[in-house]
This record gives sequence, C-alpha cells and structure tokens, in this order.
Amino acid sequence: MSERPRVWVSQPLFDDIVARLGEYFEVDATAAVTQHTPEAANAALRRADGALVTLNDPIGAAQIAGATRLRAIANVGVGYNNLDVPALSAAGILASNTPDVLTETTADFGWALMMATARRVGEAERWLREGHWQRWSFDSLLGSDVHGATLGILGMGRIGQAIARRAVGFGMRTLYHNRSRLPEAVERECAASYVGFDELLARADHLILVLPYSPQSHHLIDAAALAKMQPHATLTNIARGGIVDEDALCDALEHNRLAAAGLDVYEGEPKLNPRLLQQRRVVLTPHIASGSLATRRAMVSLAVDNLIAALGYGPDAGRPPSPLNAPVRAGESVG
Ligand code: GLV
Repeated sequence: MSERPRVWVSQPLFDDIVARLGEYFEVDATAAVTQHTPEAANAALRRADGALVTLNDPIGAAQIAGATRLRAIANVGVGYNNLDVPALSAAGILASNTPDVLTETTADFGWALMMATARRVGEAERWLREGHWQRWSFDSLLGSDVHGATLGILGMGRIGQAIARRAVGFGMRTLYHNRSRLPEAVERECAASYVGFDELLARADHLILVLPYSPQSHHLIDAAALAKMQPHATLTNIARGGIVDEDALCDALEHNRLAAAGLDVYEGEPKLNPRLLQQRRVVLTPHIASGSLATRRAMVSLAVDNLIAALGYGPDAGRPPSPLNAPVRAGESVG
C-alpha cells in the first residue's frame, strides 16, 4: 500500500473539522498558536503534500524552497496577501482561500466598528469603567450620526456590497469606489453610486475600507488622502493594516483633521503603532471581523474541502471550491 499523503496544519484550528483531513492524509498538526520562522515553515512544508495555513503564515519562495512534494496550500481567510501566489503557481502549487462564507459576518462587524467609532463606544466604556461617571450630563461623549449620513465604501467586492445593503436600512447615501464599476443592476440592489477616489474621500461622512491589500493599495490612505476627508468624518478599516499610513492617521486625529477611526487591522500586527494606543477617538479591535464562531468554523471547513480536493481526494477531487490559481499539476492525485 502506498504511503498516505502528508498535510501540515500550521495553527490550531477546530479539531473536529480538521479531523476530516485524517480520512485521507497523515496530519502534522501544530498544537499551539505559533509564529513560524521561514525556516520552520520551510521544514514543515518540505515534508508535506499540502498545508492548511492562516493569514499569520507568510508562504512564499523561502517557505516553499525545496518542497518538492507540495501541491496545495489552503489559506483559512479570504484575504491572501500572506501568499505569494505567483511563486506558488510557478512551483505547481494550487492555492485557495475562503471567500463567501465570511461575507455577512464581516459586513456585520464593519458596521459594529463603524458605529462604535461614530458613537464613541470604546471611549465611553473606558470612561465609565475608570469611574468618571458622577452624574448624567447632556453633552458628554457626543458622537456623530450614522443614519442619514453619507457612507463611503472603498472596495466594492462581496463584503463591500454586503455593507452597502445594510446601509439602506439606515437611510444612508452610499458612495463607493472600486477598481471597476459594478454592473448597474448590482449598484441598484446595493443602492450605491460609483464615484472617483477623491470624491469618495471628500464626500464620505463615514469611510470604510474593504479593499484587498496589494502593492497598489499600500498606504493608499496616506496624509494626502486624509487631507481630502472632512474633519467630522470617521475612517473604519476592516481590510488590511498596510492600506493606512498609521502615522499620518495619528497626525490627522491629533490635529482634528479627522474625527475618529475604527481599526481592526494594523500594519505590523499583532504589534501596534504605539501612537494608536494614545488616541482617544480610536476604537481598536484585534483582527476579529470574521470572528463569529459559526463563520470561523465555516472558513476552516471550506479550507479543509479545498485541501482535500486540491490533493485529488473527496467528492470534489481535482476541483477545489475556491482556487486562487490553476497551476499545471493541480488536481493530480498524489495517492
Ligand atoms: C481576514 O482578514 C480574512 O482575510 O479572512
């Protein structure tokens, strides 16, 4: 009997879901959350036919060097800037991600963070816990309205559209900017109007970032972009930290050129720019936008399906549900 393929699971995920891999493969599971060095990831990948990884795990040329058996990388996450997809394609490795299953949950959280930012929820809670509340007062912690305001969405993929649909119930005017304009029917359904980047910045009362991170979007929200926003506006980022120049954001907040910000993602996460921690009008959360239990389970389940299929097993053998590339060797059974 030929040896079963081996897969590496880079972080602890849901054991009962990951156990499905054991039906087909030898599983090399990581027991504790680990920041793998490139060398350690490379050692694990050299032994593996496939791997389940998270956005904590950069996978590029250094990690796959000499990994001659490796045929599939399944990313648990919709964003995949941790993967060097061209390098994986060149090495004949099929990459996949987990779109769709997290769309609504992530849109919910975008709203939660935007509303917390506009209505100063984090600041108010800190103030209360610190014992400052002596008596109710009419003018303390006044925020800005979300209902009836102008929502700006930068990046109008699935999550951006789900955020826009929610805005209808809040009576907002929704403007968006995206690499390409959406079909008219989708714009109508989302009640959203396409505008240029500068117009989006200038008109949004609440701007939310939902675009992919790439060299083109690195520090797209820099000092010049922030200067185009209205001083009463808020900025919410649930995309990737590197899209915002955090020092420029702190400068804008400190000089009252922007009212507030809500951040779920950071350029050097989990390390935080210390200036952000000093900002009163910033709500900070630790990259949890897709973090409902049901959705995180669905993401792992989809990634497991992708890995099994990409390695040529299971009901979808050779046809993973959400591939990111189509390398030559994809789908060949390694059994
Ligand atoms: C989370 O940030 C994801 O990309 O899934």
